[in-house]
Amino acid sequence: MLRFMAKITFGISCTLVLFCYQVLSVEVCRREHFVAAVYEHHVILNPNPTAVTDRQSALDLMKKNLDIYEEQVIAAAEQGAQIIIFPEDGIQGFNFTRASIYPYLDLIPFPDSVTWNPCKEAYLFNDTEVLHRLSCMALKNQLFLVANVGTKQFCEPSDPSCPPDGRYQFNTNVVFSDNGTLIARYRKQNLYFEYAFNTPAEVDYIVFDTPFAGKFGIFTCFDILFYEPAVPLIKQYNVKQVVYPTAWMNQLPLLSAVEFQQAFATAFSIHLLAANIHHPDLGMTGSGIYTPTKSFIFYDMESVNGKLIVAEIPVILEHETQMANSVISNIQKSFSSFPMDTLVCHKEDQKDCSEIAEGASKAALHIFYGEMMYDNFTLAPILEAEGNIHVCSNTLCCYLNYQRLDSSNELYVLGVFDDLHTVHGTYYVQACVLVKCGGSNYTTCGQEVTKATGMIDFQLQGNFTTAFIFPLLLKSDITLDFADHLGWKNNYYVMQKRGGSSGLITAGLYGRWYEKDSNRTLYNKNVNGYSKNLNKRD
Ligand SMILES: *[C@@H]1O[C@H](CO)[C@@H](O)[C@H](O)[C@H]1NC(C)=O
Ligand SMILES: *[C@@H]1O[C@H](CO)[C@@H](O)[C@H](O)[C@H]1NC(C)=O
Ligand SMILES: *[C@@H]1O[C@H](CO)[C@@H](O)[C@H](O)[C@H]1NC(C)=O
Ligand SMILES: *[C@@H]1O[C@H](CO)[C@@H](O)[C@H](O)[C@H]1NC(C)=O
Ligand SMILES: *[C@@H]1O[C@H](CO)[C@@H](O)[C@H](O)[C@H]1NC(C)=O
Ligand SMILES: *[C@@H]1O[C@H](CO)[C@@H](O)[C@H](O)[C@H]1NC(C)=O
Ligand SMILES: *[C@@H]1O[C@H](CO)[C@@H](O)[C@H](O)[C@H]1NC(C)=O
Repeated sequence: MLRFMAKITFGISCTLVLFCYQVLSVEVCRREHFVAAVYEHHVILNPNPTAVTDRQSALDLMKKNLDIYEEQVIAAAEQGAQIIIFPEDGIQGFNFTRASIYPYLDLIPFPDSVTWNPCKEAYLFNDTEVLHRLSCMALKNQLFLVANVGTKQFCEPSDPSCPPDGRYQFNTNVVFSDNGTLIARYRKQNLYFEYAFNTPAEVDYIVFDTPFAGKFGIFTCFDILFYEPAVPLIKQYNVKQVVYPTAWMNQLPLLSAVEFQQAFATAFSIHLLAANIHHPDLGMTGSGIYTPTKSFIFYDMESVNGKLIVAEIPVILEHETQMANSVISNIQKSFSSFPMDTLVCHKEDQKDCSEIAEGASKAALHIFYGEMMYDNFTLAPILEAEGNIHVCSNTLCCYLNYQRLDSSNELYVLGVFDDLHTVHGTYYVQACVLVKCGGSNYTTCGQEVTKATGMIDFQLQGNFTTAFIFPLLLKSDITLDFADHLGWKNNYYVMQKRGGSSGLITAGLYGRWYEKDSNRTLYNKNVNGYSKNLNKRD
């Protein structure tokens, strides 16, 4: 009862924060906190993943990774963690074929049909050694544990979608409560060329409950870019926290792991607990614990060692998420959460608008095209110490008002893309970006850069059709920053940032127009393909 009343009090005293969420510190309200841990794991890989082996050899390899997991669970528990998340593919690795991964797969009963504690009831099912080990770690250390495992589920030939070999193989996240009970399993929806695995016949919308922070949603890696299951989880199931195992290959300038993870948490006003694989040689690093206004991240391309991140974060209150939901579902986009200064081109303010148009005509002389992450962006260079420029593509126009604060000659461009992305996955992107080029030649724009000294005050905006916009703000050496202002102003989504303290790599409004993804069917259905494509993660 006391707890209930306390919650009401928090609710009232936090009303202001709803409207000033990006401006005021989260700490303005006294509220409950919880301690979360994510582990970026240097997975010990099978040197020959395509060779078919036996169960015992598979268990021997996985034991090496599970031993490291156990050390980290103990370390996290010592720091008070109540939940820990491990990355996708962290136990068995990747690059298997459908046949070669089979010995690595655990059998998994549906948690909703059977209450099962693998640690206490080890011999209820065969081929559950990995689940057993994970369950015991959760139980012994009394924390919630989220891990990614390969699982198998046998099916009958009468099932029309049953693969010819009589079994489904799923890329699966499992969740254990602090007493070792298996409380949830999520099967990855948007496989990334993982021919060893099947896509589940129906989307898993998985929500699990915790005594310390309420409900969590769950999905995996590539899922973060798609509508299913992420958006319904947040909109309809009203989750305030997401646990997110991933094995993400960084791709600059728009899809570095930490960059997009933060953008997702900010866009939906949620917590994201993201654990990535640590393999700098494969471009994999970047994990974090994200709140809508603060991020605790790890990114390291030098060391080969994994990293445990532990952070105390506030519990997001119910009504805050409802607010976020109303924002993202508001297709009219009339909601304006933040005060805009006079830089914005208001429709009712002809003077500002004509200034922008003037700048645009100047920029039009210098428009060129450049490939960025396999997409043909329309680009315009930043040539002056300050100015207004715009670029358009299809139905999207992007406007930039800028003032350079540094005297470096580093080349920056304003870019726009409004089209279907078709390389390594098919999905529709609407993007307005301000990025640093690789050098002073226009042909270097769109390249991956990690260092910058250019400091720019800017306001970036676009007349997006989609309401789903992920704000990117990446600084030199892959550090993150937050915008000063972010939100809709009339039909424009606006990001504003002043006084950036370090070099700017990317400021971006990465929109996902999910309805236009269409025909994205080709890459999940192959049952007998042979290898996970790891060339590029995008
Ligand atoms: C996985 O396979 C791809 C090509 O199929 C290869 O480029 C990559 O290096 C492999 N990764 C590992 C870790 O073996
Ligand atoms: C486990 O496997 C053994 C040996 O194949 C078999 O005898 C037993 O019935 C299986 N148990 C279960 C629960 O499936
Ligand atoms: C174990 O945890 C689950 C989930 O938190 C809970 O429902 C269940 O009652 C617990 N079981 C025991 C024996 O405490
Ligand atoms: C990029 O788009 C422009 C405008 O549609 C077009 O003229 C150009 O050929 C395209 N470039 C490439 C490499 O496809
Ligand atoms: C965005 O603005 C341009 C230029 O005014 C316009 O042609 C385009 O139709 C607008 N797009 C939308 C979705 O309103
Ligand atoms: C820019 O790069 C292109 C392609 O590498 C090259 O052909 C061109 O000469 C370069 N321009 C300048 C001004 O260096
Ligand atoms: C999907 O592809 C079919 C045939 O290629 C095409 O007719 C249809 O318009 C496409 N759907 C969308 C939404 O683009």
